[in-house]
Amino acid sequence: MAELSRRRLLGAGAVAAGGAALGWGAGAVTGRAAATAAPGTVDFHGAHQAGIATAPQAHTTFVAFDLRPGTDRAALVRLMRVWTDDAARLTSGRAVLADTEPELATAPARLTVTVGFGPGLLRAAGLEGSAPAWLKPLPPFAIDRLEERWSDGDLLLQVGADDPVALAHALRVLLKGARATATVRWTQRGFRRARGTEPEGTTMRNLMGQVDGTVNPAAGSADFDALVWCEGAEQPWLAGGTSMVIRRIRMDLDAWDELDLPGREIVMGRRLSDGAPLTGTAEHDEPDFAAAGPGGLTVISEFSHIARSRSADPRQRFHRRAYNYDEAPSGAEISDSGLIFVAYQADVEAQFTPVQQRLSDSDMFNRWTIPIGSAVFAIPPGCREGEYLGQALLSLR
Ligand code: HEM
Repeated sequence: MAELSRRRLLGAGAVAAGGAALGWGAGAVTGRAAATAAPGTVDFHGAHQAGIATAPQAHTTFVAFDLRPGTDRAALVRLMRVWTDDAARLTSGRAVLADTEPELATAPARLTVTVGFGPGLLRAAGLEGSAPAWLKPLPPFAIDRLEERWSDGDLLLQVGADDPVALAHALRVLLKGARATATVRWTQRGFRRARGTEPEGTTMRNLMGQVDGTVNPAAGSADFDALVWCEGAEQPWLAGGTSMVIRRIRMDLDAWDELDLPGREIVMGRRLSDGAPLTGTAEHDEPDFAAAGPGGLTVISEFSHIARSRSADPRQRFHRRAYNYDEAPSGAEISDSGLIFVAYQADVEAQFTPVQQRLSDSDMFNRWTIPIGSAVFAIPPGCREGEYLGQALLSLR
């Protein structure tokens, strides 16, 4: 007891000191000014989980878990209560109960914690009848070279922050909370440019140097809301939730090195320098897929990545929030790099799968990009204070 209150005291002191140093009052972190998040924090509570519409942080780690045999609904409720409490504290810059390193909790750096459910979780809870039709592995695509060590999972954690120390601490805390219920199946660590390196709102560059993420629904717009958040018509517990498709896509950078600049731009349909379409002058110019060049061929090839990934059906769109990965190369390899491609949409089968199918059929880019991992998760809606994540599902009768 004395130990606990000592930790509480230390935790509160450290938070207050950190708050003062950053120029905002302790009131913001004790919850009195809860309506708007303090600088460096992203609200945990709300209609939707954070980490989806949130401007991408510099670092995000995705962890998929296998549930331990015998895990039942009661165990899942316990885990969700613990994770919800941990996430609410950590994302607001407070140490968790019995935090072994409370000092690391004080600078959350826009930490977000997002939880997803795989098909196995609904089965374990005896709730497979409440699974949306799309909650299953994607159909196989001809381009797939999927490895089990990067695929599937019963449960997902997505933890993002602008600072890797905050992220490491949060992950350790959350993994401790899951120890009795689940084991790690795979971990994928992703990064973008360090925050502050470029002006806010700059579209990221992937490890091929391409401007990646230009055509995306604007977070907070009616378009985004309609494309991303489930209405709950099929499964009421998912109202305000979404789905996540995560694909680990290896880049063959050695082969890409052999392609000259015009070749690279033809494959994408956009310029490397600024991401403008080959028919335009600025990144956000609308591509003109009909414009013909001197030889009569279209300027943007119909087999370019942007031509193949765009559909005439406006429903076949989603929110992309990708991260780069770059692992230690082995043997004679120079790099083990690629993209952790992440897409959120209300309905995987209606929005995502047709686009992935078209890319698989005839995207020139396939020669240099190899999908090696794939998983689909249901992302339950956000929760209010006093509730836990996934409550609408796990409390179903
Ligand atoms: C390593 C893998 C991939 C890389 C490096 C990549 C890169 C890019 C780049 C540079 C653009 C152009 C700028 C932009 O609008 O973001 C783009 C557009 C796009 N990509 Fe990808 N992409 C990859 C995989 C995928 C996959 C797997 C999908 C979906 C199944 C996808 C769907 C899209 C869509 C929908 C667009 C926007 C097309 C439009 O202009 O309407 N991409 N991608």
